Amino acid sequence: MKKVLISGSAGFIASHLLEELVKNKDYRIDMVDDLSTGNKDNVKKYFGGERTRFYQCKIQDFPSFEDYDIIYHLAAKANTRATGLVEFEDNIMATEAVTKMLKPNGHLIFSSSCAVYGNQAIVDENSPYCPISYYGCSKQVNELTIKTNCKNYSIFRFANVFGERQDGSTEMGLIGVIDYNIKNKTTMAVYNKGENRRDYIYVKDVVNALVNFAYYKEVMQVGSFVTNNTLDLVKLSGVDWVFGAYNTEVDSIELDNTKLKSKGWKPTLTVTDYIKRLK
Ligand SMILES: NC(=O)c1ccc[n+]([C@@H]2O[C@H](COP(=O)([O-])OP(=O)(O)OC[C@H]3O[C@@H](n4cnc5c(N)ncnc54)[C@H](O)[C@@H]3O)[C@@H](O)[C@H]2O)c1
Repeated sequence: MKKVLISGSAGFIASHLLEELVKNKDYRIDMVDDLSTGNKDNVKKYFGGERTRFYQCKIQDFPSFEDYDIIYHLAAKANTRATGLVEFEDNIMATEAVTKMLKPNGHLIFSSSCAVYGNQAIVDENSPYCPISYYGCSKQVNELTIKTNCKNYSIFRFANVFGERQDGSTEMGLIGVIDYNIKNKTTMAVYNKGENRRDYIYVKDVVNALVNFAYYKEVMQVGSFVTNNTLDLVKLSGVDWVFGAYNTEVDSIELDNTKLKSKGWKPTLTVTDYIKRLK
């Protein structure tokens, strides 16, 4: 039986990942989450399962008594607007820690982000690091830490992920915020006049990449290779909105997904089709 660790397991993406991984009867899965943004309800059906255990703590404080065959490292303070070092440091410490929990021949799978590129209109895996946020900087350092410390790893750089269970109450993640405001009949703030263009990818397509394309030992982008304008998406959803403040954010980003597609992966749901379902 393989020992698997999922960090950040109560979060949006990891909870979908968990649903897929538990189907593999050869996996015994430890879930670790500090519940800083995660939600126990996302994963509580797996508490005390025969092959699943949940630990509430920071991954860097996790008293790991054993080395893992496979680690999915998704724990992060994923706040692109953070302006202090607290979240940056947490991401650095968390990633350093998981690299020490792996068996010598184990495999680490990491959720990086297109935030490592900053403001570059179209990017592929060879585009240079150029983050414009503390969050993007932390992902860059995390990638370098993993490359330095681990023999076997896969680094996935996600575009903007959308889908069921995305927490829109934090104002992070446009599609989750739209969904939250529709459900609560509230008015959302559209920052930067909604002029940004972003690449959006469905959470189940991300999970497909993480589960079925994880062992190439490469850096791979997970995006749709299409961009959508923020204000267009807001208007399409029918949510009530007003213009909000200006934030330092990426203007436009589009992820060339040729590499992952050439291996057989493909996106299955567009963000516009998903938004139409929210009505
Ligand atoms: N959602 C996106 O659009 C997107 C895009 C690119 C990359 N990512 C990355 O994917 C991963 C998952 O993101 P998500 O959208 O599911 O966010 P999320 O906030 O829902 O999930 C992150 C989880 O990690 C937990 N966590 C944070 N710091 C921790 C620590 N030190 N120890 C233990 N647990 C900790 C949180 O409580 C949360 O449950 C993150 O690494 C994020 O940076 C997300």
